[in-house]
Amino acid sequence: SPISAPDLSKCTRGTNLNTQQPLDVNCCPPLSQKSIDYKLPPVTKMRFRPAAHLASQEYIAKYEKAVELMKALPEDDPRSFMQQANVHCAYCNLTYEQTGDPSLRLQIHNCWHFFPWHRWYLFFYERILGKLIDDPTFGLPFWNWDNPPGMVMPNMFVKKDSPLYNPRRNQDHLPPATTDLNYAGKPTTDPSKIIPNNLTEMYSEMVRNVSTLEDFYGAKYVTGTKPDPGPGTVERGSHTALHVWVGQATPSGEDMGNFYSAGREPLFFSHHANVDRLWSIWRGLRGSKPKDFPESDWLNANFLFYDENAQLVRVKVGDTLENQKMGYVWQEVDLPWLKNRP
Ligand code: C2O
Repeated sequence: SPISAPDLSKCTRGTNLNTQQPLDVNCCPPLSQKSIDYKLPPVTKMRFRPAAHLASQEYIAKYEKAVELMKALPEDDPRSFMQQANVHCAYCNLTYEQTGDPSLRLQIHNCWHFFPWHRWYLFFYERILGKLIDDPTFGLPFWNWDNPPGMVMPNMFVKKDSPLYNPRRNQDHLPPATTDLNYAGKPTTDPSKIIPNNLTEMYSEMVRNVSTLEDFYGAKYVTGTKPDPGPGTVERGSHTALHVWVGQATPSGEDMGNFYSAGREPLFFSHHANVDRLWSIWRGLRGSKPKDFPESDWLNANFLFYDENAQLVRVKVGDTLENQKMGYVWQEVDLPWLKNRP
């Protein structure tokens, strides 16, 4: 049967997956008396997600304000910045029992729920920010790292006095360093090859190495499956490479290079906004081939999140398939990895 929402009251201190030691932070969410089955709200105004490197000063000021307000919410408010970061920790770092098989722990990475789960995570994060600045059209900026003009840490995140700044990053990778989508801890030997290699990597992840649905989404994960059955191409490749590239060059990799702390990095949400965008682009490239798993083990899998009104809601994978039905679109930009097929 499908993975089903965890029992929050049974959340325990998880495991630091870089060191395999117990976590020294508690990332369990606040409890709530009841949860409701979430229905996607009718889309009246579309949210617009701009490319981070093209965003206007006006947009950046708005986004900074929203994150500042989120950081100022009381610590125990499920919408506060730290609680939002902990959502990622709780669903990754083995804090929850798997509903239906308490001998196993829940982990939503490295499996076919990677794209849908992160889509919901960003969906509520974005709605919380939009509510804080009273802007129902607010959309997260995406880090356009699949396109050469976006292959650098976006400027809005590196201004020291900004709420989007984070000191826990690899200091060698601040602008103008070129993002390396094949990064595995060592600098690339020939810098002139990074951009062409990045484009080749994108083409492989999105086209060449994807024939089955599992190739793209990751392996099947249902009640009774152990954590980490296997990631899809994007999750394994560019997605993980950039987590490691942004985080500190230490074995524990905070913030971005470690699951429990990744959500404390404001850049995380722009990184994942691009992953989310690549999912929709990939669906568009499929033509008449199947785009989603038809089985209820995927479509009916469900998770719990707090929405922008601090209401605990149960959401389903089956509701994530169309970004437009979820009320947002991206700025159109070039797809050079597709045009210049290597
Ligand atoms: Cu939940 Cu990029 O990891």
